[in-house]
Amino acid sequence: MKVLLTGANGYIGRRLKQKLLNEKIALRILVRNPKSIGLDVHVRTEVFRGDTFDVQSLEYALEGVDVAYYLVHSLQHENYRELDKISAQNFLDAAIKQGVKRIVYLGGLGVKAHASKHLLSRIETGEILSSRPDQIQTVWIRAGVIIGSGSASFEIIRHLVEKLPVMITPKWVNTLAQPIGVDDVISYLNEAKDLACDKNLVVDIGSEKMTYREMMLGCADALGLKRFIIPVPVLSIKFSSHWLNIFTPVPYNIAKSLIEGLSSEVIIQNDHAKQYFPHIHPCPFKNAVQKAIKEMEQNQILSRWSDAEGGTDLWEHHQNDPSAAILTDRQRIEIHGASKEAVYRTFCSIGGKEGWLAHHWLWEIRGWFDKIIGGAGLKRGRRHHHRLRVGESVDFWRVEDLVENERLLLRAQMKVPGKAWLEFRIKNNELIQTAYFYPRGLWGRVYWYMMIPAHYFVFRSMIAMILKKAQNEQTKFPYQNQSS
Ligand SMILES: NC(=O)c1ccc[n+]([C@@H]2O[C@H](COP(=O)([O-])OP(=O)(O)OC[C@H]3O[C@@H](n4cnc5c(N)ncnc54)[C@H](OP(=O)(O)O)[C@@H]3O)[C@@H](O)[C@H]2O)c1
Repeated sequence: MKVLLTGANGYIGRRLKQKLLNEKIALRILVRNPKSIGLDVHVRTEVFRGDTFDVQSLEYALEGVDVAYYLVHSLQHENYRELDKISAQNFLDAAIKQGVKRIVYLGGLGVKAHASKHLLSRIETGEILSSRPDQIQTVWIRAGVIIGSGSASFEIIRHLVEKLPVMITPKWVNTLAQPIGVDDVISYLNEAKDLACDKNLVVDIGSEKMTYREMMLGCADALGLKRFIIPVPVLSIKFSSHWLNIFTPVPYNIAKSLIEGLSSEVIIQNDHAKQYFPHIHPCPFKNAVQKAIKEMEQNQILSRWSDAEGGTDLWEHHQNDPSAAILTDRQRIEIHGASKEAVYRTFCSIGGKEGWLAHHWLWEIRGWFDKIIGGAGLKRGRRHHHRLRVGESVDFWRVEDLVENERLLLRAQMKVPGKAWLEFRIKNNELIQTAYFYPRGLWGRVYWYMMIPAHYFVFRSMIAMILKKAQNEQTKFPYQNQSS
């Protein structure tokens, strides 16, 4: 069986990819950025560069495929509803043209009549993918809150209960939902490719029914915390979204789309999961939370909600190379008293809980400012305390390039009037740290010059601290391979 996986860098896709790699199938992956797929995958699978808005790339990737997974959405764009429709239609048409037998799609749980804009878009996507049952079969799996290490829903719940002993919450915390552990979602998706059924199917999945309030208290319990929740009838969606934006790592747009969905019940509408997947027994909420916490504690987070690279606008496509930057801040230091491996490891462990080594409070201020204006903020953290992979997020940066013992290139995802990168490079016996900036218009230039005093302190101290830390730590942590 030849299987195509789309969305392979996303939260669900990355986990499904790991599962599919162990199956007896020929796996093909469609990604927008092949660099973000690890080398181990490259040797075992076909990696195709493509985009659901590029019909030719879709047709090329779908050629000879039996089952195609559709795990794509455009939520990062304002007009995501329109884009999602085009994307799904392109995929359906290309799949039919290439004779694909089955599409497997993961959408959201809930009914159309009460759906939020985000859920509506997921439903419309499912409807489009299922619209030609005479020519192609679609298995549409629908899940509500997904609980797992790194999932947006779990990160929100965890951050809220960890930070707030008493929570004044909207009355929607009493809405019923049916959460499900991420491992169970992956099992359903994996088995959907082998299902002995040739008609269109909608499969609602979830574990026990519970309110969001019970989920928060259950999570607090698993973390050994006593928490109090006081629901009030007044808090608006906007206010709640800002609240989540400030107290959790998720940015405003994701918080808003999640909050909008909280007011209506997300309950299983059919028993197809039991009927067609009788041997999958979704684990209870409590166990899913405990597993997620354990994975976090043991640094074994396979994927995070912020893994997807997100859309890049046209302007960025034209300016996607730091060498195009007009403004730079370059610092150099001779490496002594530490091996190159230790220096590499040190700059690769920057950010997250480790912080930014020098004048971290200035980074915190920049992070808060970013959150306030709707950016990612500094609190997204990182998946692993020292391992990195291309494409993943580190606070408000994203890893753009990684060359073992040589280079780390970070691309800024904070709100900034231009395009910014931060590069650490080891060359000969020197550590070179460069901040690149390609300003957008006059305001971009003004921004850069306004930041010069902060950069002066931050960048000079940061490079010195990297070397110092490498000198201190190389004996404590023998060199390990960075690939994950
Ligand atoms: N995560 C949840 O809690 C949850 C819950 C219920 C249902 N679901 C459903 O599960 C599916 C996957 O969600 P997710 O959370 O894994 O999403 P995600 O982490 O945001 O990942 C989305 C993936 O789609 C890819 N993508 C976006 N636009 C694309 C395009 N035009 N062409 C090709 N690839 C494109 C992204 O690629 P880049 O890496 O290049 O950006 C990324 O890999 C969605 O249908 C979602 O509704 C998720």
